[in-house]
Amino acid sequence: MLRFTRLGCAGESNGSQMTVSRDDGLQWLRNCAAVIAKNRLYLIELDAAIGDADHGANMDRGFQAVLKKLPDIADKDIGSIFKAAGMVLVSTVGGAGGPLYGTFFLQAGALTAGKPELDLSSWTAALEAAINGVMMRGKAEPGDKTMVDALLPALDALKQSASLGEGFGVALRASAEAARQGMLATIPLVARKGRASYLGERSAGHQDPGATSSYLLLKAAADTWELNGLTA
Ligand SMILES: Nc1ncnc2c1ncn2[C@@H]1O[C@H](COP(=O)(O)OP(=O)(O)OP(=O)(O)O)[C@@H](O)[C@H]1O
Ligand SMILES: [Mg+2]
Repeated sequence: MLRFTRLGCAGESNGSQMTVSRDDGLQWLRNCAAVIAKNRLYLIELDAAIGDADHGANMDRGFQAVLKKLPDIADKDIGSIFKAAGMVLVSTVGGAGGPLYGTFFLQAGALTAGKPELDLSSWTAALEAAINGVMMRGKAEPGDKTMVDALLPALDALKQSASLGEGFGVALRASAEAARQGMLATIPLVARKGRASYLGERSAGHQDPGATSSYLLLKAAADTWELNGLTA
């Protein structure tokens, strides 16, 4: 449910005082599971072109397991919810995606430990910690044709929105769009990490599956929290 801290200032109309509650966090995870299930075949096809055709199946299995776990953690703070999701993903997804997305949610959970709600600044800090975790674990740099190429532009967009004084909802939408652009920008790249790197030059011309799933998760955040009225 949308929380609205009433400070009586004009900034409210652009969503700058709005926060994401624990229930919004749970709803995001539910929507992640739905969007990954809907795009299962698409992610499989992308991975079939430059990997081993399992990204969609693995991500779907992981997020269905997260979905099953939600009733056990529904009364916890946001940090505990993200952490629990990370642990489920590590233990159910496998491949490269499992440890990487597991780390993503575990780090986001560590940064938001004990928080009943998030604002733009704490969501930005959580995403930054999550991406740093992915980069430390996978040693990928921008331009290596991985999920990092969708995630980092999304983080930069959040920071830019904050520096422009934009509201949380506007920032989320900008961040999802930046992730989409980053995902599309992986198409011409030659992979330097993961299975796709075994193909060398032949990996160019294909969209990276992990960048695609990352975009879907961040778009789900914008869509979920926008539905709750966060976007101006
Ligand atoms: N070292 C890495 N750092 C960051 N992201 C990576 C790394 N390796 C792979 N990825 C991302 O994970 C996705 C899947 O990776 P890969 O094809 O190597 O693995 P996999 O073992 O088949 O795992 P999956 O089940 O997720 O397909 C890639 O599309 C890429 O975005
Ligand atoms: Mg794969």
